[in-house]
Amino acid sequence: AQDRRESLFIVTNWAGKFFMETLWDTEDGRTIGLNYFRERGYRDDIIKKFELGYSPEAWTALYDRAKAEGHKDEFLEATGLIIRKDDGGSVYDRFRGRVLFPIHNLTGRILGFGGRTLKTDKKTPKYVNSPESEVYHKSDVLYGLYFAKKPILDADNCYLVEGYADVLSMHQAGVENVVSSSGTSLTHGQIRLISRYTKNVTILYDGDEAGIKASLRGTDMLLEEGLNVKVLLFPDGNDPDSYVQKFGSTAFKAYVAEHQQDFIFYKTHILLRDAGNDPIKRAEVIHDVVASIALIPDEIKVSVFIRECSGLLDIQERALITELNKIRLARH
Ligand code: CTP
Ligand code: MN
Ligand code: MN
Ligand code: MN
Ligand code: MN
Repeated sequence: AQDRRESLFIVTNWAGKFFMETLWDTEDGRTIGLNYFRERGYRDDIIKKFELGYSPEAWTALYDRAKAEGHKDEFLEATGLIIRKDDGGSVYDRFRGRVLFPIHNLTGRILGFGGRTLKTDKKTPKYVNSPESEVYHKSDVLYGLYFAKKPILDADNCYLVEGYADVLSMHQAGVENVVSSSGTSLTHGQIRLISRYTKNVTILYDGDEAGIKASLRGTDMLLEEGLNVKVLLFPDGNDPDSYVQKFGSTAFKAYVAEHQQDFIFYKTHILLRDAGNDPIKRAEVIHDVVASIALIPDEIKVSVFIRECSGLLDIQERALITELNKIRLARH
């Protein structure tokens, strides 16, 4: 089993080299792939550091090269690099004409890839990702963590973003303590991975409806694992990548420093904004905020947040504690 895992690693890491060589050393790679990354504003040193690549626009470019170099169908298929047609006979490359973000494990070996299309039509899926495999367990992997481990320790804080591009642009802006759950919604396994390095997380999700929803869900999961949570959404549908590329790294850092909020302020603000003056809805807000506080394992923190909440919502602490206890009882 260990031999088989090693064989899968060999194939994914070989593919990483193939995609990188295609990006830098072929005509299409340079004019299409490399040009795409540069147009998006990524510097060459970042493109190299993250080992970004390009897959040729052809059905079997990777497969043909793999066979010529003696790699076995079995391992190419098990890592999802090739797909076997339903008829069982013929195979084709999963990644075709896409720019590629390799996903590294904690020691820097490649587990799989995220492949972005360069097309702008609505029907091509924006990202095609490697499937789960014996070496790639998506729920236990964070994109960028290999590069972010030390920066997270140094800063004692981890920025959590939605996508590959966000990780890259923040690194380029000099903010290297950043990871993404790219391609899956945040899992408890990923949170435990972060909590090996820090107990402080700042969620920087996209400033759209999906980003708001995901930030509230992520907040609760992080609180449940005993982490301290701050949140910030970017304005006008921006994400960290688009913000950095439009306004530059100085403006980005200033925006983050100024706008990140402790979860209690963030959540209360977001929910109250939607509730308006409707008293029933405001009561629901109180319930929802207390429900988040009730997830926190540390009793001292719980009482600090109850007090904060009492001030924010203008409700007596005693009423909030009654609500808190009700929620806890209902959960057991
Ligand atoms: N994602 C995915 N499949 C999709 C869409 C998104 O796996 N069809 C994942 C990717 O990891 C992506 C992340 O979800 O990076 C966030 O999605 P989105 O915000 O739509 O993409 P961006 O990262 O902003 O991509 P870009 O800036 O290149 O448009
Ligand atoms: Mn999005
Ligand atoms: Mn949970
Ligand atoms: Mn983006
Ligand atoms: Mn995005």
